[in-house]
Amino acid sequence: MAETFYVTTPIYYVNAKPHLGHAYTTMVADSITRFKRQRGVDAFFLTGTDEHGINIERAAAARERPVKEHVDEIVEEFKSAFAPLGIEYDRWVRTTDSFHEEGVQTLWRQLSERGHIYKGHYEGWFCGYCNEFKEVEEGEDDPLCPIHERPLDRVAEESYFFRLSAFQEPLLELYRARPDFVRPGARLNEVVSFVSGGLKDLSVSRASVKWGIPVPGDPNHTIYVWMDALMNYITGLGWGNDQFADFDRYWPALHLVGKDILRFHAVYWPAFLMGAGVELPYRVHAHGMWLSGGRKMSKTTGNVIDLNVLRKHFSADMIRYFVLREMAFGQDGDFTYEALIDRVNADLADGLGNLASRTLTMVRNYFEGRPPRNFAEEASGAALVREAVEQARARFDEEFDALNFSRALEALWSALARVDKFITDNQPWKLAKDPSARAQLESVIATAYEGLRLMVLLAAPAMPATTREIWNQMGLRGEPLGINPRETSWGGPLDVSEIGRISPAFPKLDKEKIMADIEKEKSAEEKSLPVEESAPAPATPKAEEAVAPQKAETISIEDFAKVELRAATVLEAERVPKADRLLRLVIDVGEAEPRQILAGIAEYYAPETVVGRKIIVVANLAPRKLRGLESNGMLLAASVGEEGRPVLATFTEDVPNGARLK
Ligand code: MSP
Repeated sequence: MAETFYVTTPIYYVNAKPHLGHAYTTMVADSITRFKRQRGVDAFFLTGTDEHGINIERAAAARERPVKEHVDEIVEEFKSAFAPLGIEYDRWVRTTDSFHEEGVQTLWRQLSERGHIYKGHYEGWFCGYCNEFKEVEEGEDDPLCPIHERPLDRVAEESYFFRLSAFQEPLLELYRARPDFVRPGARLNEVVSFVSGGLKDLSVSRASVKWGIPVPGDPNHTIYVWMDALMNYITGLGWGNDQFADFDRYWPALHLVGKDILRFHAVYWPAFLMGAGVELPYRVHAHGMWLSGGRKMSKTTGNVIDLNVLRKHFSADMIRYFVLREMAFGQDGDFTYEALIDRVNADLADGLGNLASRTLTMVRNYFEGRPPRNFAEEASGAALVREAVEQARARFDEEFDALNFSRALEALWSALARVDKFITDNQPWKLAKDPSARAQLESVIATAYEGLRLMVLLAAPAMPATTREIWNQMGLRGEPLGINPRETSWGGPLDVSEIGRISPAFPKLDKEKIMADIEKEKSAEEKSLPVEESAPAPATPKAEEAVAPQKAETISIEDFAKVELRAATVLEAERVPKADRLLRLVIDVGEAEPRQILAGIAEYYAPETVVGRKIIVVANLAPRKLRGLESNGMLLAASVGEEGRPVLATFTEDVPNGARLK
């Protein structure tokens, strides 16, 4: 049986729009899942949404919407923000799913039967944003949450309690016996010192909150949101419900969490599980925060990095590479667009992209497109390059497995620089002119091609789309994520005949232009109504009109059948001189030759961000000329907001070019 692996992200509160902070953990979980699968491990990746509690009830009330309708909407926003980032989870748990509710109630019953829950009275202060009771100094009348700086709610009501105090010793014993249960080590120390300071019993029900899972046998109470939410990690595998049967196969989990919610995962969660007699997680790994302008990025602070802005200027793989490379997993990282652009230009455009283009161009020019496989190491430094790549491969796997993504990528990129320098040092363009240097030339190009091949395989979990593109350009069959790098060796047999069409995988970004555009967008956004985390603005009739579909006359199915909609991939994109709105695209519609189309999206999409994208086109539109250029089709995009911002239509699954939509 294959080794198994189970990774989870926190489940996200549905009271605010998704931002980079949420997408970050999810991209990390996606990359590690792909990494494991590529190495033959049977991996499972769970994510989802945390939908109960007073805050969500309030957010819906402020919008005058039924709570379920409100949460359904935000869940869709999360899903549609994650999909274009190449995030492919195995299951999405919503705490409003009935299987989850069933599982949570099962846990409650077990804890209750085992004597870990009792009824009492609670008086104290509660923060709806943290979903946590807060200690407040005697005599404070209007205390604020120290994290959110917002007023706390006074709660005085009947409540059920979980005997957390009884778990102090078992928890300390757990941290002693399994020091890797919490990572990194510094975080473990914080947890140990918190638990050593003494644990009070935890209030685990609320009589005044209606939007939650009812306490079994006492429906006037709802179950505390964190007890409800943490359970997703096992209900999502089928524990306590009949919906799924994956618990025995995948549990225990690696939980990826932000350091701000470590205590819930490293203290309460194992205590609940111990109480119910369920096996504990494998590990809780806490990562740092993305800061923006020196402060934690959060909607409350108003400094979030909007995923729409990011996606508009940067491809998914650029973003994925940047977050993995830039933030030492575990420490805080500062996000700036400038740093992102610099990284993309240095590491991707001038680094990986350039190495791929120059290597493949030489295969095309000097070897008629057939990669040479001469590993006799005739060229000077060839043996050293092979060694450097082999060392980087070992180091990469070790670091990535230990969740040190930044170091793993650093190791890979330093080998990449070695290969690049090796090409330059050997001056293949000179060797190509000298027939007696043929073996040397073969050795240079074979070494560069081989180094590139092995490095592309390793980079694939982080950058699934562009590595696949480079792989295809290299003329290699299959797809990199389907090939186990540990079973691939230098100079091993290859399934390749000729290289494909060469095009830059990462065009260089124009820093000044992008920064100016982002500034413009920011000021436009500031003028529009912000969506508040606490109380989203009520939907005004105007806003509703803007999204309501326009009424149109009906058409027959025959009318619709006349429109030939097909899937296509953008191969090239460039601005049309003197036309601010137009991009000229060369697209592959699965026909013998690529086609040219013109699209009025230049104000919203930089050319480099659309290259490689899967789009939908009207393929049988009569050709027409714009600015002297012929357009042979039209791409589909949603028209959003009052200004009609185009958002390209695409697929969330692989679709071959030319596939018809009907
Ligand atoms: N719903 C709870 C988690 C329940 S898990 C059983 C929650 N939700 S959250 O939406 O507020 O946060 C989810 C995750 O996003 C947390 O891990 C949090 O650390 C992370 N981040 C939120 N802002 C972040 C940054 N600025 N940077 C990195 N991660 C951040 O807490």
